[in-house]
Amino acid sequence: MLAGKRILLIIGGGIAAYKVLELIRLCRKAGAAVTPVMTPAAKEFVTPLSVAALAGETVHEALFDLTSEAEMGHIQLSRVSDLVVVAPATANLMARMAHGAADDLATTLLLATDTPVLIAPAMNVRMWEHPATQRNLAILKADGVAVAGPDEGDMACGEYGPGRMAEPGAILAAITAHLGPKPLSGKTVLVTSGPTHEPIDPVRYIANRSSGAQGTAIAAALAALGARVRFVTGPGEVPPPEGVEVIRVETAREMLDAVEAALPADAAVFAAAVADWRVANASGSKMKKDGTGRAPALDFAENPDILRSISQRKTGRPCLVVGFAAETDDVVAHATAKRERKGCDWILANDVSPATGIMGGSENAVTLITGNGAETWPRMGKTEVARRLAQRIADRLTD
Ligand code: C5P
Repeated sequence: MLAGKRILLIIGGGIAAYKVLELIRLCRKAGAAVTPVMTPAAKEFVTPLSVAALAGETVHEALFDLTSEAEMGHIQLSRVSDLVVVAPATANLMARMAHGAADDLATTLLLATDTPVLIAPAMNVRMWEHPATQRNLAILKADGVAVAGPDEGDMACGEYGPGRMAEPGAILAAITAHLGPKPLSGKTVLVTSGPTHEPIDPVRYIANRSSGAQGTAIAAALAALGARVRFVTGPGEVPPPEGVEVIRVETAREMLDAVEAALPADAAVFAAAVADWRVANASGSKMKKDGTGRAPALDFAENPDILRSISQRKTGRPCLVVGFAAETDDVVAHATAKRERKGCDWILANDVSPATGIMGGSENAVTLITGNGAETWPRMGKTEVARRLAQRIADRLTD
């Protein structure tokens, strides 16, 4: 399951460190190699001898260790693994990670690493619930750190609540989700995102308020499931995610060309807010006032409908084409009709009337319309909407 994978395991100083011995055993049984690192506090709870014996490797402990530096420097050590796992991640270790401390080997490796990081927090319930820890958790999540647990239950300190480290089996499952085969491995998915800019003259353009947040989150979620993502984006505010192929465009016509060039794909998600019209008589030089007080007349031409044209392709159509419908009333009826009209397989419809705060906000309330009808999802963050959609796409492509 994890054959050929290497885990850099950073063991923090908490009573849950004893469970890490079992985690090492499970990781090795699954085929992974484990390079252990212990903080000075961790050695108060488990011995380096037990850790080294189970890992079958030397335990790294000190930042300024001449022998280790000669054999493998700490920067190199931070890069040798496919995943860094911090277990138990104590409140102190989380705080130092969140603030970029590098005052011992563990935090230096965490700052220097370029591989994904998974933490398994473990601490007293009050420490876990403290606003400082919750702030640090939010910072770490925003930095892309994955989190396994904590669980709720009886604690070694006699209290009850969330703070117990996740069980070794659950941590192994989280590791496998990162390192094991992914459901969209080998699949290519095209995603459009952001607004388009339609020039009026070389310095002015017509645009819309799309930030690109939902399309970006979808691209990230598909990439996290192992897809090769081609991300065709207009000039949105949100930066493109890591690990996707980014193709930047400005206008709807450039977006259509880029989408056609990016095919073939197994699936395509059209999340861009494409301008329906462009200025047909855009000026090649900056338009100036002519002193008469008359505004220039702009003529408009209809832009290509990218979703429709890809959905209705006779050859090279992706197996699954997903469109969006931003509506302000009768969301399901309009979106159902749109699905028919455009010829796409699914439509993700949302109500963008100003009262919802969805346009430009961090949440979304969507209804997924498929050939089997409409399914309304509860209001949730755009990242969660993206995760759900990506999982549905994976289920459909691997049917
Ligand atoms: O027609 P309407 O703009 O409501 O449809 C929205 C859906 O169509 C979105 O998925 C959007 O990305 C796509 N679209 C497109 N090209 C256009 C207009 C919309 O791909 N010119």
